[in-house]
Amino acid sequence: MTIKPFKLERYYTQYEFTSDYSICNSDCEAMTVGDLLALEDGAAVKLNNLWLGYTETKGHPELRRDIASIYTNINAGDLLVCTGAQEPIFLFAHANLTPGDEVIVQAPCYQSLQSVPEDIGCKVLNWMVKYEGSRPTFDLEELAGMVTDKTKAIILNAPHNPTGYHFTKAEQLAIVEIARKRNIIVFCDEVYRELEHSPEYAIPAFADVYENGVSLGVMSKAYGLPGLRIGWLATRNKAILENVAILKEYTTICNSAPSEFLAGVALRNRQQILQRNLQIVHDNLPLYDRFFGKYGDLFSWHKPTAGPIAFVKMHFDTDDVAFAERVLKDGKILLLPGGIYDYSGFFRIGFGRKNLPEALEKFEEFVLDTLVSL
Ligand SMILES: Cc1ncc(COP(=O)(O)O)c(C=O)c1O
Repeated sequence: MTIKPFKLERYYTQYEFTSDYSICNSDCEAMTVGDLLALEDGAAVKLNNLWLGYTETKGHPELRRDIASIYTNINAGDLLVCTGAQEPIFLFAHANLTPGDEVIVQAPCYQSLQSVPEDIGCKVLNWMVKYEGSRPTFDLEELAGMVTDKTKAIILNAPHNPTGYHFTKAEQLAIVEIARKRNIIVFCDEVYRELEHSPEYAIPAFADVYENGVSLGVMSKAYGLPGLRIGWLATRNKAILENVAILKEYTTICNSAPSEFLAGVALRNRQQILQRNLQIVHDNLPLYDRFFGKYGDLFSWHKPTAGPIAFVKMHFDTDDVAFAERVLKDGKILLLPGGIYDYSGFFRIGFGRKNLPEALEKFEEFVLDTLVSL
């Protein structure tokens, strides 16, 4: 195996279920199968009668219609349903990129967006975040200057993990114009889309605004249903989608029938689910405001406009990995050090979970015990 181990997933595998508290989760609060089924009359009976045979490789046509309703220019035929968001990242890259292709990746990032193209033999260029104090930005002129005749794809993530950055509509259009001039694919990981903190921050999916745009969606994050393992690719570029569909027959072939059914129920009731999850976010954000207001000499953050995560700058030390180890060992609290993203001096926090108040209280106890005297 040549691909680099996935640092973030290795970290979660080791600590997610062994720590007492977490202040770094990127998914919103999940729910039970019963709670989900209760959102739609007759859904429980239908699930009971569901046939557990193979399903269509592309995804159930009804589910694809439900997914298409999230978009404005995408129909059921422009979608391929996959396992979570991780499988389509892997498949998109392997099916559409070749050794020697130049690929520009918004960075730091969820590692597979970078490591999979690297492993294929692509030349990966990082479009790095720039920090103005604790406020992240991405420089569009720099992106324009990075593009060459060999650029095959620009790989983005909006809203962005880990910085919490979200493009404006104007920035999105500028990116599309840069890409369109040279027929470059824009692959945008949109797993946190629809969790804008106010409707004014919503931007269209890249697949809606660009004919070579590929949007990655999933049930895991904004909708809080990672256990379903249902994600998808949306694109009007038929060749890209077909390439992925062919490769998918070597990985998962088709999706889990119960998961597809449950994802459909969730999507038909997604406004209710999103409202619930946004309420959790809005309840949690002021707690961090208070916390970072109180401990501003130790940490600073820039409150994001979308998504359930932010990247916090540390002022007392730059060894985020050692800090996270101490927080875990002495406080039994999980946070995600910037080192996981090869970006030191920061750690990632999350605010989509209901038990954040308790976890943050524990983190504050740790801070008071160990840092305040520094
Ligand atoms: C930006 C991003 N993309 C993809 C994924 C993978 O999602 P899934 O667990 O649904 O495969 C994650 C998970 O944390 C993520 O943050």
